[in-house]
Amino acid sequence: MSEQANITLGSKSLEMPVKHGSIGPDVVDIRKLYGQTGAFTFDPGFTSTASCESAITYIDGDEGVLLHRGYPIQQLAEDSSFMEVAYLLTEGELPSKDELAKFEHTISRHTMVHEQLMQFFRGFRRDAHPMAIMCGVVGALSAFYHDSTDIDDPKQRMIASHRLIAKMPTIAAMAYKYSIGQPFIYPDNSLSYTGNFLRMTFGVPAEEYVVNPIVERAMDRIFILHADHEQNASTSTVRLAGSSGANPFACMAAGIACLWGPAHGGANEAALEMLREIGRPERIPEYIARAKNKDDPFRLMGFGHRVYKNYDPRATVMQKTVRELFKELKVTDPVFEVALQLEEMALNDSYFIEKKLFPNVDFYSGIVLSAVGFPTSMFTALFALARTVGWVAQWNEMIGDPEQKIGRPRQLYTGAPQRDYVPIAKR
Ligand code: CMC
Repeated sequence: MSEQANITLGSKSLEMPVKHGSIGPDVVDIRKLYGQTGAFTFDPGFTSTASCESAITYIDGDEGVLLHRGYPIQQLAEDSSFMEVAYLLTEGELPSKDELAKFEHTISRHTMVHEQLMQFFRGFRRDAHPMAIMCGVVGALSAFYHDSTDIDDPKQRMIASHRLIAKMPTIAAMAYKYSIGQPFIYPDNSLSYTGNFLRMTFGVPAEEYVVNPIVERAMDRIFILHADHEQNASTSTVRLAGSSGANPFACMAAGIACLWGPAHGGANEAALEMLREIGRPERIPEYIARAKNKDDPFRLMGFGHRVYKNYDPRATVMQKTVRELFKELKVTDPVFEVALQLEEMALNDSYFIEKKLFPNVDFYSGIVLSAVGFPTSMFTALFALARTVGWVAQWNEMIGDPEQKIGRPRQLYTGAPQRDYVPIAKR
């Protein structure tokens, strides 16, 4: 007999099936709870709730494990490319040589954006945050690509997915170019996905742009590290938006909006700004004391994670990438020394030990991005670019799930009970 969980509520008892994944915690299937007992579960922030079944990404937060389709993130970051990981996440298996070449070719055919879309940029102030532009422009794609918004057609879903993966670098680069007053650079499909993005960002029409392979590799690795992360806030937002049948471009815009927050993707920008503000190792104790002070809202940005209660495996790779990039480019940044010392001090402090707060992916990523030449305001846009792969993979998985329903949480109501309207003259 299959395993059951029992719950007794007053005089009512209910047996609920326990479901097992391939690895990871079991789940108690509570779908009949309300119908049979009249009670809801209460889990704000979803700390104990699995919102869906998924075969894409697995995280063991206690052990610091992150797997994409079963493959450890360290191996993917070390040995694969972002396009390979994009194929893996969206198609389910690692590609053969031919499959990868075909996939790269397909993506490269979608890198341009509709010429009319360029007018959108001109409507923004020059000092607009790139994420503000990304939210608007990505949402607006649905007004341009009508032939890929029918979510019930798997072919259209695939085209929309390819378009989103391909156009995100173009849109992110355009947001950057607009902010610095330089002309937009059209994609060059002879370059790699990441090389093309670097050229569109840092190239100018007046000069030939030569992609630095060291920088290209470092950026590709950053994209791999950000490609997907299970049911995080922005991915859950994409799924929730998509559950109503909204078109994929609108869903991605919703994901971008959620990612922007400083507790999520916005932390990479905030982390580097914090490290720069600290400036010198002597000032670290002051900031650690502030992070520990309950009356001070300050938090160590790039530290802590809802799921990882151990070192975020992505942070390990990121720290290594900083070292490699600095060595190869023969550059340095005093902020890296501050970051290393801050990490060491925090990891030896009882507050951080007890609360299991470790560096996350965002702690070191800003140092790499800054060394490559990106302003902090672009950091979260780069996260969005990479996470688009995860978003489309998860969105597709959801649409194809026969158990998929519109996402509609309930609540514990604490407002006024029913009362009669009082005319304004009598109030
Ligand atoms: N600095 C100081 N204290 C912290 C920090 C931090 N960075 N993070 C958590 N805490 C404390 C927090 O005050 C709380 O203490 P107490 O139990 O005494 O109230 C305890 O640790 C648990 O924190 P929480 O906010 O309840 O945990 P959460 O799972 O809701 O939040 C988090 C996770 C990532 C939002 C949080 O750790 C945080 O705000 N970190 C800084 C922002 C950041 O780096 N975000 C990037 C996350 S990784 C990239 C991504 O996937 O988006």
